[in-house]
Amino acid sequence: MQNVFEMSKGTRDAFGRALATAPDDEAFRVRLERHFAALYEPLDRLYGDHPAFAEQLAAVLGQIAATHMARAPALRALDHEREITPDWFQRQRHTGYICYADRFAGTIAGVRERLPYLRELGITYLHLMPLLRSRPGENDGGYAVADYREIEPALGTMDDLRVLAADLRAHGMSLCVDLVINHTAREHEWAQRAMAGDERFRDHYLTFADRTEPDAYERTLPLVFPDFKPTNFTWSDELGRWVWTTFNDFQWDLNYANPAVFAGMLGNMLALADAGVDVLRLDAVPFMWKRLGTDCQNQPEVHDLLAAYRAAVRIAAPAVIFKAEAIVSPDVLVNYLGECELAYHNSLMVLLWSSLASRRTALMAQTLSAMPTTPAGKAWITYLRCHDDIGWAITDDNAAAVGEDAHEHRKFLVRYFSGDFWESFARGAVFQPEFNGEGRTSGMAASLAGLDVALESRDPAAIDLAIRRVLLLYSVVLSYGGLPLVYMGDEIGLRNDTGYAEDPRTAGDNRWLHRPRMDWDAAGRRHDPASVEGRLFAGLQALVAARRERPVLHAAGTVEPFDTGNPHVFGYRRELDGRQFTALASFSEVEQAVRSEAHEPAAPACRPPRRAGNYLVLAPYGYAWIG
Ligand code: GLC
Repeated sequence: MQNVFEMSKGTRDAFGRALATAPDDEAFRVRLERHFAALYEPLDRLYGDHPAFAEQLAAVLGQIAATHMARAPALRALDHEREITPDWFQRQRHTGYICYADRFAGTIAGVRERLPYLRELGITYLHLMPLLRSRPGENDGGYAVADYREIEPALGTMDDLRVLAADLRAHGMSLCVDLVINHTAREHEWAQRAMAGDERFRDHYLTFADRTEPDAYERTLPLVFPDFKPTNFTWSDELGRWVWTTFNDFQWDLNYANPAVFAGMLGNMLALADAGVDVLRLDAVPFMWKRLGTDCQNQPEVHDLLAAYRAAVRIAAPAVIFKAEAIVSPDVLVNYLGECELAYHNSLMVLLWSSLASRRTALMAQTLSAMPTTPAGKAWITYLRCHDDIGWAITDDNAAAVGEDAHEHRKFLVRYFSGDFWESFARGAVFQPEFNGEGRTSGMAASLAGLDVALESRDPAAIDLAIRRVLLLYSVVLSYGGLPLVYMGDEIGLRNDTGYAEDPRTAGDNRWLHRPRMDWDAAGRRHDPASVEGRLFAGLQALVAARRERPVLHAAGTVEPFDTGNPHVFGYRRELDGRQFTALASFSEVEQAVRSEAHEPAAPACRPPRRAGNYLVLAPYGYAWIG
């Protein structure tokens, strides 16, 4: 054992105690030693003074050991493989797909039947949206979990999930599922026991006898859903107290200052690892720790919590990695790649849509250039759409650096994408409008990119432009750097679903506009090159294939936006092990030219730019991958 020599005295003593009760398994003991400091030190900072620390630490270590010992042979083999291939998720062979199991295929078993469709597109990573048992009725799309150990009955069983995971594994694909870690449903057993009067479980949540503390917090606390709920706290008659509820009133924030909560949620994580899940999407992580006088997001303790979880799972089930859902501003976003292997590149997503509306790329180049470099061994999740709204996270500094006013630009984007601008091609909706004209945006990619308006006009040229816009944006998503995700339906141009308004469980939340059911009839047209579906599917499929062939697109490579000399054309260079790659992406509906010297088109993926003297000419919304 070598790592022990690097431990501080306190950590070494604690390690000695842990080792004394550890199972007699060599792989386990090596991992325990390797990651013990990363587990123990943050926990000691968080809970060292808590009376239940020793007891809860023992519970944590016990769960880790039990998970390891019960690991199925196939998962053990995967643990080993991934320990010696830690970059597995960074490889350019991976492209992901996000969907709700029921909306995509009815049930988890149904998803298995549709795997050939995903493989045809080149998908190797499947993110299934919340599938654990949620509260009945309104449940925030499954993000109000009533039982973390059971699958939502209408979707199937834990065994179905196990079989799906094994099936994916057999095809070199990985499975990602959501772990709603910041809150539980008020129907969860912990909350139920708290309401029944059990003090121990009341301490699993953040509750207050009167409004004094909530009011004090609220002075600096923003609202996530201002439209649904004007406060972050909800009165519970059963408790006779106010409960912290950042999201909806039925989603109770957990009290992570209590080590029993840490240990309890670890058990939920390990149960999913045991079912064969590869990636845990940790929901709403910035909110996990509260501090008076702050916005109660991104507190240092959140990173201690994530670090400890990371180490715990690395010891128990090293094949499993974390994806942080932290939709925060670009300056603090990168911190989540400190502990988690993956985090959403929210900034890139926002800037792609921003450039599509403005036809200008300076703000995108500025913001992305100003971001810290991606930590080694980690990867961004690059994406265009997901089940959530688009929050226009454009900072004052970055906007000012390119001569724009951030507030005015955000207002413009909200209007543009809701179709409220004279030349807007978009058809989205405003989510959580604010009094100052700002707000967020709902809508499917195809609708935001103009497909509805174009189809209604029956103008082939307009339809062509809408298709080109979607493919342009995905060309960046698939090559900017990281693990790209395709949102269900984008590959066939699925548009907004207005049906949500008729169901009382969804009517109040227009994010359901972009959570349609898969249209398998439309998908059936994907081989018809004359159809919208056929053009999009083939275009995306070609991009995914082109990505897979380019080792330079491994996420370990560097990326650097550069000035193309044309304000409408975004350019970025990537490099890895001496390999070079240049991408050009034109956000204009007319042809655009850039000087050619710097980017000799060696092997463009799609639609090679036309050469005109010293210029490369990009088609409307054209893109080129060079290298
Ligand atoms: C995440 C989810 C979102 C949900 C929220 C509360 O942001 O993506 O859909 O409303 O967490 O769980």
